[in-house]
Amino acid sequence: MEQWGLVPVAQVDSYAGLIFGTFDAETPPLHDYLGELTWYLDMIADRREGGIEFLGGVHKWVQTCNWKLGADNFIGDGYHVSVSHISARKAGFQGPPTQLAPPPGVQASAQHYYINTGYGNAFTTSMQSIVDGERLLPPGFKGYADECLDEAAERLGPHVRQWTPGICTIFPNLSFLPIRHTIRVWHPRGPDKMEVWSYCYADKVAPDDFKRAVLDNYQRTFGPGGALEVDDGENWDQCTSASKGYVARKQVMNYAMGIGHEQFHEHLPGWLDVNTASEHNQRGFYEHWAEMIAADSWSDLTTSFPRSRTRPG
Ligand SMILES: [Fe+2]
Repeated sequence: MEQWGLVPVAQVDSYAGLIFGTFDAETPPLHDYLGELTWYLDMIADRREGGIEFLGGVHKWVQTCNWKLGADNFIGDGYHVSVSHISARKAGFQGPPTQLAPPPGVQASAQHYYINTGYGNAFTTSMQSIVDGERLLPPGFKGYADECLDEAAERLGPHVRQWTPGICTIFPNLSFLPIRHTIRVWHPRGPDKMEVWSYCYADKVAPDDFKRAVLDNYQRTFGPGGALEVDDGENWDQCTSASKGYVARKQVMNYAMGIGHEQFHEHLPGWLDVNTASEHNQRGFYEHWAEMIAADSWSDLTTSFPRSRTRPG
């Protein structure tokens, strides 16, 4: 057993019921690694007593794409939706547009927030007054989020009344899509293959009929045969395939959207860009990935700036 035993996991820790492990003894403690992201993560996983729970089991499938495309898509890719999912919208799966008119005094371009909290981790949020996510749920369940708002505000603070949690990726390969109640793990299976593990979740104390509706909604849209999931998966496979071409390999990817607009915010933690669409989060992700590939130790990283109000390098 001593000679052929399992490799010990150097560190195991949990946050909001999510369990993280690493073989690397030098990795910063989990709470430092998540840093200011926890402020946002709580809005997904800790709104109600008992947090969240998975509904049913886990869907697993293999995509012929690089694993970073899943992480990239869930970290801040809001601009693909109106093009990639137009057929799903026409078929009625996407529902009516979820964006309402901006509140008085707010510019139309200043409604979506792309937030880098260090270590490549990133979150997106929008003003609650302009996002009607509950409209995506079946009739009869549209008021659930409002009904829970008092409890969430008491647990987390008054900010939950103002901000709606959006997509999120914890570097490298754990992602959240709260509007569809799904959590993803993107497992690399080589440079051009990814195994997706997809979970559906809901507040643990939510009523059973609400959980059933959430699970149905997830399966119809973001299950392995979901009307929206297949659109995204097709994009990722084609991106990977097309990038291998003789001409494509000579090109440089452009991730400049929103560059130069980064700022700190009076009320929101993290280093962010306020924009209709932005690649701020993708830049933080790939910059950190590139540093992780090249660095000899954690102390070499410049992308680790948790709880800092200093402009990152
Ligand atoms: Fe999508």
